[in-house]
Amino acid sequence: MASSLCFLPFLLFVVSSLVSSSSSSSSSSSTATDVLHGGEEAEAVGHDLHREYLRDEAASRLNELGKVSDVNGYLERTFLSPASVRAANVIRQWMEDAGLRTWVDIMGNVHGRVDGINASAPALLMGSHLDTVVDAGKFDGALGIISAISALKVLKVTEKLEKLKHPVEVIAFSDEEGVRFQSTFLGSAAIAGILPAATLNISDKSGRTLQEVLNDNTVGATEDNFIKLKYQPESVWGYVEVHIEQGPVLESAGIPLGVVKGIAGQTRLKVTVSGSQGHAGTVPMSMRRDPMAAAAELIVLLESICKHPQEFLSYDDDCSSVESLFGSLVCTVGEISLWPSASNVIPGQVTFTIDLRAMDDVGREAVLYELSARMYNICDRRSVSCVIERKHDANAVNCDSELSLQLQSAALTAFRKMAGNVDVDVPKLMSGAGHDAMAMAHLTKMGMLFVRCRGGISHSPAEHVLDDDIWAAGLAVLAFLENHV
Ligand SMILES: *[C@@H]1O[C@H](CO)[C@@H](O)[C@H](O)[C@H]1NC(C)=O
Ligand SMILES: *[C@@H]1O[C@H](CO)[C@@H](O)[C@H](O)[C@H]1NC(C)=O
Ligand SMILES: [Zn+2]
Repeated sequence: MASSLCFLPFLLFVVSSLVSSSSSSSSSSSTATDVLHGGEEAEAVGHDLHREYLRDEAASRLNELGKVSDVNGYLERTFLSPASVRAANVIRQWMEDAGLRTWVDIMGNVHGRVDGINASAPALLMGSHLDTVVDAGKFDGALGIISAISALKVLKVTEKLEKLKHPVEVIAFSDEEGVRFQSTFLGSAAIAGILPAATLNISDKSGRTLQEVLNDNTVGATEDNFIKLKYQPESVWGYVEVHIEQGPVLESAGIPLGVVKGIAGQTRLKVTVSGSQGHAGTVPMSMRRDPMAAAAELIVLLESICKHPQEFLSYDDDCSSVESLFGSLVCTVGEISLWPSASNVIPGQVTFTIDLRAMDDVGREAVLYELSARMYNICDRRSVSCVIERKHDANAVNCDSELSLQLQSAALTAFRKMAGNVDVDVPKLMSGAGHDAMAMAHLTKMGMLFVRCRGGISHSPAEHVLDDDIWAAGLAVLAFLENHV
Protein backbone atom coordinates (compact mmCIF):
# COMPACT_ATOMS: atom_id res chain seq x y z
CA MET A 1 0.00 0.00 0.00
CA ALA A 2 1.79 3.08 -1.19
CA SER A 3 0.58 6.62 -1.40
CA SER A 4 1.50 9.15 -4.00
CA LEU A 5 3.44 12.24 -3.06
CA CYS A 6 1.49 14.33 -5.50
CA PHE A 7 -1.97 13.08 -4.70
CA LEU A 8 -3.06 12.68 -1.14
CA PRO A 9 -6.23 11.14 0.18
CA PHE A 10 -7.91 12.87 3.07
CA LEU A 11 -6.14 12.10 6.31
CA LEU A 12 -8.64 9.86 8.05
CA PHE A 13 -6.31 8.87 10.82
CA VAL A 14 -6.39 12.24 12.49
CA VAL A 15 -8.32 11.58 15.65
CA SER A 16 -7.85 14.94 17.23
CA SER A 17 -6.00 17.87 15.89
CA LEU A 18 -4.76 20.43 18.36
CA VAL A 19 -3.02 22.71 15.92
CA SER A 20 -0.93 25.33 17.56
CA SER A 21 0.03 28.05 15.17
CA SER A 22 3.58 28.55 14.21
CA SER A 23 5.27 26.57 16.28
CA SER A 24 38.45 30.72 23.12
CA SER A 25 40.94 30.36 21.03
CA SER A 26 41.94 31.72 17.68
CA SER A 27 43.08 28.46 16.25
CA SER A 28 40.60 26.92 13.92
CA SER A 29 40.68 23.21 13.37
CA SER A 30 42.10 23.54 9.91
CA THR A 31 41.04 20.91 7.48
CA ALA A 32 42.11 20.72 3.88
CA THR A 33 39.09 22.67 2.76
CA ASP A 34 39.00 25.15 5.62
CA VAL A 35 38.87 28.61 4.10
CA LEU A 36 40.10 30.30 7.25
CA HIS A 37 43.48 29.64 8.74
CA GLY A 38 43.36 31.40 12.09
CA GLY A 39 43.65 34.98 13.24
CA GLU A 40 47.25 35.86 12.53
CA GLU A 41 47.22 34.91 8.88
CA ALA A 42 43.83 36.46 8.37
CA GLU A 43 45.10 39.80 9.58
CA ALA A 44 47.94 39.69 7.14
CA VAL A 45 45.59 39.25 4.21
CA GLY A 46 42.54 41.40 4.66
CA HIS A 47 41.53 44.99 5.17
CA ASP A 48 38.69 46.46 7.19
CA LEU A 49 38.62 43.43 9.41
CA HIS A 50 37.51 45.27 12.56
CA ARG A 51 38.84 42.42 14.64
CA GLU A 52 38.52 44.46 17.82
CA TYR A 53 34.70 44.65 17.57
CA LEU A 54 33.64 41.78 15.34
CA ARG A 55 35.81 39.15 16.94
CA ASP A 56 37.24 40.08 20.33
CA GLU A 57 34.44 42.22 21.72
CA ALA A 58 31.73 39.97 20.28
CA ALA A 59 33.36 36.86 21.79
CA SER A 60 33.73 38.50 25.18
CA ARG A 61 30.11 39.67 25.11
CA LEU A 62 28.99 36.11 24.30
CA ASN A 63 30.91 34.95 27.37
CA GLU A 64 29.41 37.69 29.49
CA LEU A 65 25.84 36.97 28.39
CA GLY A 66 26.49 33.25 28.88
CA LYS A 67 26.97 33.93 32.59
CA VAL A 68 23.61 35.68 33.00
CA SER A 69 21.67 32.72 34.37
CA ASP A 70 18.85 32.01 36.80
CA VAL A 71 20.81 29.18 38.40
CA ASN A 72 24.34 28.56 39.63
CA GLY A 73 26.49 26.19 37.66
CA TYR A 74 24.67 26.13 34.32
CA LEU A 75 22.88 28.44 31.91
CA GLU A 76 19.11 28.76 32.17
CA ARG A 77 17.29 31.92 31.11
CA THR A 78 13.62 31.40 30.44
CA PHE A 79 10.98 33.90 29.36
CA LEU A 80 10.90 37.00 31.61
CA SER A 81 12.83 35.31 34.43
CA PRO A 82 15.03 37.56 36.61
CA ALA A 83 18.10 36.59 34.53
CA SER A 84 16.20 37.37 31.32
CA VAL A 85 15.47 40.85 32.59
CA ARG A 86 19.13 41.32 33.52
CA ALA A 87 20.19 40.02 30.10
CA ALA A 88 17.78 42.42 28.41
CA ASN A 89 19.38 45.35 30.24
CA VAL A 90 22.88 44.27 29.24
CA ILE A 91 21.84 43.87 25.60
CA ARG A 92 20.17 47.27 25.69
CA GLN A 93 23.41 48.89 26.85
CA TRP A 94 25.31 47.22 24.00
CA MET A 95 22.72 48.48 21.53
CA GLU A 96 23.13 52.02 22.85
CA ASP A 97 26.88 51.67 22.67
CA ALA A 98 26.42 50.87 18.96
CA GLY A 99 24.49 54.12 18.42
CA LEU A 100 20.99 52.63 18.49
CA ARG A 101 17.87 54.11 20.07
CA THR A 102 16.43 51.44 22.38
CA TRP A 103 13.22 50.34 24.06
CA VAL A 104 11.70 47.20 25.56
CA ASP A 105 8.14 46.24 24.54
CA ILE A 106 5.49 44.67 26.78
CA MET A 107 6.51 41.13 25.72
CA GLY A 108 10.05 41.81 26.92
CA ASN A 109 11.55 42.06 23.40
CA VAL A 110 14.53 44.44 23.36
CA HIS A 111 14.68 46.78 20.36
CA GLY A 112 17.54 48.96 19.10
CA ARG A 113 17.00 51.09 16.03
CA VAL A 114 18.86 53.51 13.82
CA ASP A 115 16.90 55.51 11.25
CA GLY A 116 19.54 56.13 8.57
CA ILE A 117 18.72 58.76 5.97
CA ASN A 118 14.97 58.11 5.84
CA ALA A 119 13.19 57.22 9.07
CA SER A 120 9.98 56.28 7.25
CA ALA A 121 11.55 53.91 4.73
CA PRO A 122 10.82 50.22 5.36
CA ALA A 123 13.21 48.85 7.99
CA LEU A 124 15.56 45.90 7.94
CA LEU A 125 14.97 43.85 11.09
CA MET A 126 17.76 41.65 12.43
CA GLY A 127 17.89 39.56 15.55
CA SER A 128 17.49 36.33 17.43
CA HIS A 129 16.36 35.20 20.88
CA LEU A 130 17.72 36.04 24.32
CA ASP A 131 16.03 33.16 26.17
CA THR A 132 17.67 29.75 26.51
CA VAL A 133 16.82 26.14 27.18
CA VAL A 134 17.76 24.52 30.51
CA ASP A 135 21.52 23.79 30.72
CA ALA A 136 22.04 25.73 27.51
CA GLY A 137 25.03 26.76 25.47
CA LYS A 138 25.94 30.42 25.23
CA PHE A 139 25.72 30.84 21.43
CA ASP A 140 22.17 29.73 20.64
CA GLY A 141 20.27 32.97 20.08
CA ALA A 142 22.90 35.24 21.60
CA LEU A 143 25.18 34.97 18.55
CA GLY A 144 22.51 36.44 16.25
CA ILE A 145 21.86 39.37 18.57
CA ILE A 146 25.51 40.14 19.23
CA SER A 147 26.74 39.80 15.63
CA ALA A 148 24.08 42.29 14.49
CA ILE A 149 24.99 44.77 17.24
CA SER A 150 28.73 44.41 16.52
CA ALA A 151 28.31 45.07 12.81
CA LEU A 152 26.25 48.19 13.54
CA LYS A 153 28.90 49.33 16.02
CA VAL A 154 31.49 49.15 13.23
CA LEU A 155 29.20 51.31 11.07
CA LYS A 156 28.99 53.79 13.93
CA VAL A 157 32.74 53.89 14.40
CA THR A 158 33.29 54.31 10.65
CA GLU A 159 30.58 57.00 10.54
CA LYS A 160 28.34 55.08 8.17
CA LEU A 161 25.49 54.45 10.56
CA GLU A 162 23.53 57.60 9.76
CA LYS A 163 24.00 57.02 6.03
CA LEU A 164 22.06 53.76 5.88
CA LYS A 165 19.32 53.93 3.24
CA HIS A 166 16.92 51.89 5.35
CA PRO A 167 16.30 52.05 9.07
CA VAL A 168 17.87 49.04 10.77
CA GLU A 169 16.39 47.54 13.90
CA VAL A 170 17.94 44.80 16.02
CA ILE A 171 15.45 42.83 18.09
CA ALA A 172 16.44 40.50 20.92
CA PHE A 173 13.34 38.29 21.17
CA SER A 174 12.19 37.40 24.67
CA ASP A 175 11.07 33.86 23.91
CA GLU A 176 11.90 31.37 21.21
CA GLU A 177 12.56 28.17 23.11
CA GLY A 178 9.17 28.08 24.80
CA VAL A 179 10.49 26.53 28.02
CA ARG A 180 8.31 28.51 30.44
CA PHE A 181 4.92 28.49 28.72
CA GLN A 182 5.47 25.47 26.44
CA SER A 183 4.64 27.79 23.55
CA THR A 184 7.49 28.76 21.25
CA PHE A 185 8.20 32.11 19.56
CA LEU A 186 6.20 34.25 22.01
CA GLY A 187 8.44 37.25 21.26
CA SER A 188 8.75 37.06 17.48
CA ALA A 189 5.22 35.75 16.89
CA ALA A 190 3.79 38.80 18.69
CA ILE A 191 5.78 41.12 16.42
CA ALA A 192 4.85 39.12 13.32
CA GLY A 193 1.21 39.38 14.41
CA ILE A 194 0.54 35.63 14.48
CA LEU A 195 0.09 35.21 18.23
CA PRO A 196 -3.62 35.10 19.11
CA ALA A 197 -4.70 37.34 22.00
CA ALA A 198 -5.98 34.23 23.78
CA THR A 199 -2.31 33.38 24.36
CA LEU A 200 -2.46 35.91 27.22
CA ASN A 201 -4.45 33.28 29.11
CA ILE A 202 -1.97 30.39 28.89
CA SER A 203 -0.22 29.58 32.15
CA ASP A 204 3.19 28.38 33.26
CA LYS A 205 3.91 25.48 35.63
CA SER A 206 3.21 27.63 38.68
CA GLY A 207 -0.23 28.45 37.27
CA ARG A 208 0.49 32.09 36.47
CA THR A 209 -0.90 33.37 33.20
CA LEU A 210 1.14 35.12 30.54
CA GLN A 211 -0.82 38.30 31.20
CA GLU A 212 0.03 38.19 34.92
CA VAL A 213 3.70 37.61 34.17
CA LEU A 214 3.74 40.50 31.68
CA ASN A 215 2.04 42.78 34.20
CA ASP A 216 4.78 42.06 36.76
CA ASN A 217 7.34 43.40 34.37
CA THR A 218 5.71 46.31 32.59
CA VAL A 219 2.77 48.61 32.85
CA GLY A 220 0.10 48.46 30.18
CA ALA A 221 0.25 44.79 29.27
CA THR A 222 -3.34 44.96 28.06
CA GLU A 223 -4.89 43.00 25.23
CA ASP A 224 -5.00 46.20 23.13
CA ASN A 225 -1.30 46.85 23.59
CA PHE A 226 -0.55 43.20 22.94
CA ILE A 227 -2.27 43.41 19.55
CA LYS A 228 -0.39 46.62 18.77
CA LEU A 229 2.92 44.76 18.99
CA LYS A 230 2.35 43.60 15.41
CA TYR A 231 4.51 45.44 12.89
CA GLN A 232 2.86 46.66 9.71
CA PRO A 233 4.26 44.71 6.72
CA GLU A 234 4.76 47.92 4.72
CA SER A 235 7.00 49.33 7.47
CA VAL A 236 9.38 46.39 7.15
CA TRP A 237 11.88 45.64 4.36
CA GLY A 238 13.05 42.21 5.49
CA TYR A 239 14.34 40.10 8.36
CA VAL A 240 17.81 38.62 8.66
CA GLU A 241 18.94 36.21 11.37
CA VAL A 242 22.35 34.79 12.14
CA HIS A 243 22.23 31.55 14.14
CA ILE A 244 24.52 28.67 15.01
CA GLU A 245 23.87 25.72 12.75
CA GLN A 246 23.11 23.29 15.61
CA GLY A 247 24.16 20.51 13.26
CA PRO A 248 27.36 19.11 11.74
CA VAL A 249 27.14 20.08 8.05
CA LEU A 250 29.32 23.22 8.02
CA GLU A 251 31.95 21.63 10.22
CA SER A 252 32.24 18.65 7.92
CA ALA A 253 32.46 21.00 4.92
CA GLY A 254 35.21 23.00 6.69
CA ILE A 255 33.39 26.29 6.05
CA PRO A 256 32.43 28.79 8.76
CA LEU A 257 29.18 30.15 7.29
CA GLY A 258 26.29 28.82 5.25
CA VAL A 259 23.09 30.24 3.81
CA VAL A 260 19.80 28.72 4.92
CA LYS A 261 17.41 27.59 2.19
CA GLY A 262 14.47 27.10 4.48
CA ILE A 263 13.18 25.78 7.76
CA ALA A 264 11.61 22.32 7.86
CA GLY A 265 7.94 21.79 8.54
CA GLN A 266 7.06 19.70 11.54
CA THR A 267 4.34 17.40 12.87
CA ARG A 268 4.13 16.02 16.39
CA LEU A 269 2.05 12.94 17.07
CA LYS A 270 1.09 11.22 20.26
CA VAL A 271 0.56 7.47 19.92
CA THR A 272 -1.33 5.51 22.56
CA VAL A 273 -1.19 1.71 22.37
CA SER A 274 -3.54 -0.22 24.67
CA GLY A 275 -3.36 -3.96 25.24
CA SER A 276 -4.16 -6.40 27.96
CA GLN A 277 -2.39 -5.92 31.28
CA GLY A 278 -1.32 -9.12 32.97
CA HIS A 279 1.04 -11.23 35.04
CA ALA A 280 4.48 -11.62 33.46
CA GLY A 281 4.70 -15.22 34.65
CA THR A 282 1.30 -16.67 33.89
CA VAL A 283 0.00 -15.35 30.57
CA PRO A 284 1.25 -17.59 27.71
CA MET A 285 3.02 -15.74 24.89
CA SER A 286 0.37 -16.80 22.37
CA MET A 287 -2.38 -15.21 24.45
CA ARG A 288 -0.79 -11.83 25.06
CA ARG A 289 -1.84 -8.45 23.71
CA ASP A 290 1.33 -6.66 24.72
CA PRO A 291 1.34 -2.91 23.89
CA MET A 292 5.06 -2.63 24.64
CA ALA A 293 6.10 -5.16 21.99
CA ALA A 294 3.65 -3.47 19.59
CA ALA A 295 5.12 -0.04 20.33
CA ALA A 296 8.59 -1.40 19.61
CA GLU A 297 7.44 -2.62 16.19
CA LEU A 298 5.77 0.74 15.48
CA ILE A 299 8.94 2.62 16.36
CA VAL A 300 11.12 0.43 14.15
CA LEU A 301 8.60 0.95 11.33
CA LEU A 302 8.92 4.72 11.78
CA GLU A 303 12.67 4.49 11.53
CA SER A 304 12.49 2.38 8.37
CA ILE A 305 10.07 4.75 6.62
CA CYS A 306 12.11 7.81 7.50
CA LYS A 307 15.41 6.23 6.51
CA HIS A 308 14.15 4.89 3.19
CA PRO A 309 10.95 6.74 2.25
CA GLN A 310 11.41 5.79 -1.40
CA GLU A 311 10.78 2.15 -0.47
CA PHE A 312 7.45 2.97 1.11
CA LEU A 313 6.04 5.76 -1.06
CA SER A 314 5.30 5.87 -4.74
CA TYR A 315 5.38 9.11 -6.67
CA ASP A 316 4.99 10.58 -10.09
CA ASP A 317 8.16 11.27 -12.03
CA ASP A 318 7.30 14.92 -12.47
CA CYS A 319 6.74 15.51 -8.79
CA SER A 320 9.42 17.94 -7.74
CA SER A 321 8.96 17.49 -4.02
CA VAL A 322 10.46 14.03 -3.85
CA GLU A 323 14.11 14.94 -3.62
CA SER A 324 13.70 17.60 -0.97
CA LEU A 325 11.68 15.14 1.10
CA PHE A 326 14.20 12.35 0.88
CA GLY A 327 17.07 14.63 1.74
CA SER A 328 15.43 16.27 4.71
CA LEU A 329 13.08 13.81 6.40
CA VAL A 330 13.93 13.18 10.07
CA CYS A 331 11.80 11.31 12.60
CA THR A 332 12.24 10.86 16.33
CA VAL A 333 10.57 9.11 19.22
CA GLY A 334 11.79 11.20 22.12
CA GLU A 335 9.34 10.40 24.87
CA ILE A 336 7.79 7.13 25.95
CA SER A 337 5.82 6.13 29.01
CA LEU A 338 4.02 3.00 30.07
CA TRP A 339 1.54 1.79 32.64
CA PRO A 340 2.01 0.37 35.18
CA SER A 341 5.78 0.11 34.51
CA ALA A 342 6.80 -2.82 36.69
CA SER A 343 9.25 -5.56 35.81
CA ASN A 344 6.82 -8.42 36.42
CA VAL A 345 3.78 -6.91 34.72
CA ILE A 346 2.78 -7.01 31.05
CA PRO A 347 1.97 -3.33 30.47
CA GLY A 348 -1.60 -2.23 29.87
CA GLN A 349 -0.78 0.91 27.95
CA VAL A 350 2.19 2.53 26.22
CA THR A 351 2.28 6.13 25.03
CA PHE A 352 4.99 7.67 22.90
CA THR A 353 5.58 10.81 20.83
CA ILE A 354 6.68 11.16 17.22
CA ASP A 355 8.45 14.28 15.96
CA LEU A 356 8.55 14.27 12.16
CA ARG A 357 10.16 17.02 10.09
CA ALA A 358 10.69 17.60 6.40
CA MET A 359 11.38 20.47 4.05
CA ASP A 360 8.42 19.50 1.88
CA ASP A 361 4.92 19.83 3.34
CA VAL A 362 3.19 17.59 0.80
CA GLY A 363 5.85 14.95 1.31
CA ARG A 364 5.42 15.19 5.07
CA GLU A 365 1.68 14.54 4.67
CA ALA A 366 2.40 11.57 2.42
CA VAL A 367 4.74 10.07 4.99
CA LEU A 368 2.19 10.65 7.76
CA TYR A 369 -0.50 8.94 5.71
CA GLU A 370 1.64 5.94 4.89
CA LEU A 371 2.96 5.72 8.43
CA SER A 372 -0.45 5.76 10.08
CA ALA A 373 -1.93 3.22 7.67
CA ARG A 374 0.92 0.80 8.35
CA MET A 375 0.79 1.46 12.08
CA TYR A 376 -2.91 0.60 12.24
CA ASN A 377 -2.16 -2.61 10.34
CA ILE A 378 0.41 -3.64 12.90
CA CYS A 379 -1.98 -2.81 15.73
CA ASP A 380 -4.73 -4.92 14.12
CA ARG A 381 -2.40 -7.85 13.61
CA ARG A 382 -1.32 -7.67 17.25
CA SER A 383 -4.87 -7.13 18.54
CA VAL A 384 -3.94 -3.99 20.43
CA SER A 385 -5.84 -0.75 20.04
CA CYS A 386 -3.97 2.29 18.77
CA VAL A 387 -4.86 5.96 18.80
CA ILE A 388 -2.74 8.42 16.85
CA GLU A 389 -3.28 12.06 17.80
CA ARG A 390 -1.93 14.96 15.86
CA LYS A 391 -0.66 17.48 18.42
CA HIS A 392 1.21 20.09 16.45
CA ASP A 393 1.79 21.15 12.86
CA ALA A 394 3.95 23.83 11.34
CA ASN A 395 4.51 24.20 7.63
CA ALA A 396 7.97 24.55 6.15
CA VAL A 397 9.17 28.08 5.50
CA ASN A 398 11.37 29.03 2.58
CA CYS A 399 13.97 31.77 2.83
CA ASP A 400 13.69 34.63 0.35
CA SER A 401 15.83 33.87 -2.70
CA GLU A 402 17.07 37.44 -3.23
CA LEU A 403 18.01 37.94 0.44
CA SER A 404 19.71 34.54 0.37
CA LEU A 405 21.83 35.55 -2.63
CA GLN A 406 22.79 38.78 -0.87
CA LEU A 407 23.74 36.87 2.27
CA GLN A 408 25.69 34.40 0.17
CA SER A 409 27.74 37.17 -1.39
CA ALA A 410 28.18 38.79 2.04
CA ALA A 411 29.54 35.49 3.39
CA LEU A 412 31.94 35.24 0.47
CA THR A 413 33.10 38.83 1.11
CA ALA A 414 33.80 37.86 4.72
CA PHE A 415 35.82 34.78 3.65
CA ARG A 416 37.87 36.85 1.22
CA LYS A 417 38.59 39.57 3.73
CA MET A 418 39.85 36.96 6.15
CA ALA A 419 41.65 34.54 3.86
CA GLY A 420 42.45 36.30 0.59
CA ASN A 421 40.96 35.63 -2.80
CA VAL A 422 39.57 32.19 -1.95
CA ASP A 423 36.99 30.56 -4.15
CA VAL A 424 34.43 28.79 -2.01
CA ASP A 425 30.92 27.61 -2.59
CA VAL A 426 28.98 28.95 0.36
CA PRO A 427 26.96 25.90 1.50
CA LYS A 428 23.17 26.08 1.31
CA LEU A 429 21.51 24.30 4.20
CA MET A 430 18.11 23.27 5.34
CA SER A 431 17.25 24.04 8.95
CA GLY A 432 15.72 21.17 10.86
CA ALA A 433 15.32 23.39 13.91
CA GLY A 434 12.73 26.14 14.25
CA HIS A 435 13.88 29.75 14.58
CA ASP A 436 12.39 33.19 15.14
CA ALA A 437 12.78 33.63 11.38
CA MET A 438 9.95 31.10 11.00
CA ALA A 439 7.55 33.49 12.75
CA MET A 440 9.00 36.58 11.06
CA ALA A 441 8.43 34.98 7.64
CA HIS A 442 4.71 35.65 8.22
CA LEU A 443 5.52 39.37 8.31
CA THR A 444 8.25 39.92 5.73
CA LYS A 445 10.84 38.31 3.47
CA MET A 446 13.37 36.43 5.53
CA GLY A 447 16.97 35.23 5.19
CA MET A 448 19.30 33.35 7.52
CA LEU A 449 23.00 32.71 7.89
CA PHE A 450 24.21 29.66 9.77
CA VAL A 451 27.50 29.64 11.67
CA ARG A 452 29.58 26.51 12.14
CA CYS A 453 29.56 25.03 15.63
CA ARG A 454 31.83 22.38 17.08
CA GLY A 455 30.60 18.85 16.61
CA GLY A 456 27.22 20.18 15.55
CA ILE A 457 26.36 20.26 19.27
CA SER A 458 23.74 22.65 20.63
CA HIS A 459 21.31 22.91 23.56
CA SER A 460 24.27 21.84 25.68
CA PRO A 461 27.04 23.58 27.61
CA ALA A 462 29.41 21.92 25.12
CA GLU A 463 28.06 24.22 22.38
CA HIS A 464 31.03 26.08 20.89
CA VAL A 465 31.79 28.52 18.09
CA LEU A 466 35.37 29.52 17.23
CA ASP A 467 36.26 33.16 17.79
CA ASP A 468 37.25 33.36 14.12
CA ASP A 469 33.82 32.10 13.09
CA ILE A 470 32.15 34.75 15.26
CA TRP A 471 34.36 37.17 13.37
CA ALA A 472 33.32 35.75 9.99
CA ALA A 473 29.65 36.12 10.96
CA GLY A 474 30.18 39.75 12.00
CA LEU A 475 32.03 40.51 8.77
CA ALA A 476 29.24 38.95 6.72
CA VAL A 477 26.56 41.00 8.49
CA LEU A 478 28.70 44.10 7.98
CA ALA A 479 29.15 43.36 4.27
CA PHE A 480 25.42 42.78 3.90
CA LEU A 481 24.62 46.12 5.59
CA GLU A 482 27.23 48.00 3.57
CA ASN A 483 26.19 46.57 0.21
CA HIS A 484 22.44 46.12 0.43
CA VAL A 485 20.94 48.35 3.13
C1 LIG B 1 11.27 57.89 2.62
O1 LIG B 1 10.60 56.63 2.55
C2 LIG B 1 9.23 56.73 2.31
C3 LIG B 1 8.61 55.35 2.45
O2 LIG B 1 9.24 54.46 1.57
C4 LIG B 1 9.02 57.35 0.93
O3 LIG B 1 7.65 57.49 0.66
C5 LIG B 1 9.70 58.71 0.90
O4 LIG B 1 9.64 59.23 -0.40
C6 LIG B 1 11.16 58.60 1.31
N1 LIG B 1 11.73 59.94 1.45
C7 LIG B 1 12.82 60.30 0.81
C8 LIG B 1 13.29 61.69 1.08
O5 LIG B 1 13.42 59.56 0.05
C1 LIG C 1 -8.98 35.19 29.03
O1 LIG C 1 -9.81 34.52 29.96
C2 LIG C 1 -10.80 35.37 30.53
C3 LIG C 1 -11.48 34.61 31.65
O2 LIG C 1 -11.80 33.32 31.24
C4 LIG C 1 -11.76 35.82 29.42
O3 LIG C 1 -12.75 36.67 29.95
C5 LIG C 1 -10.98 36.57 28.38
O4 LIG C 1 -11.78 36.90 27.30
C6 LIG C 1 -9.81 35.73 27.87
N1 LIG C 1 -8.97 36.57 27.04
C7 LIG C 1 -8.69 36.27 25.79
C8 LIG C 1 -7.87 37.27 25.08
O5 LIG C 1 -9.08 35.27 25.25
ZN1 LIG D 1 18.04 29.33 18.84
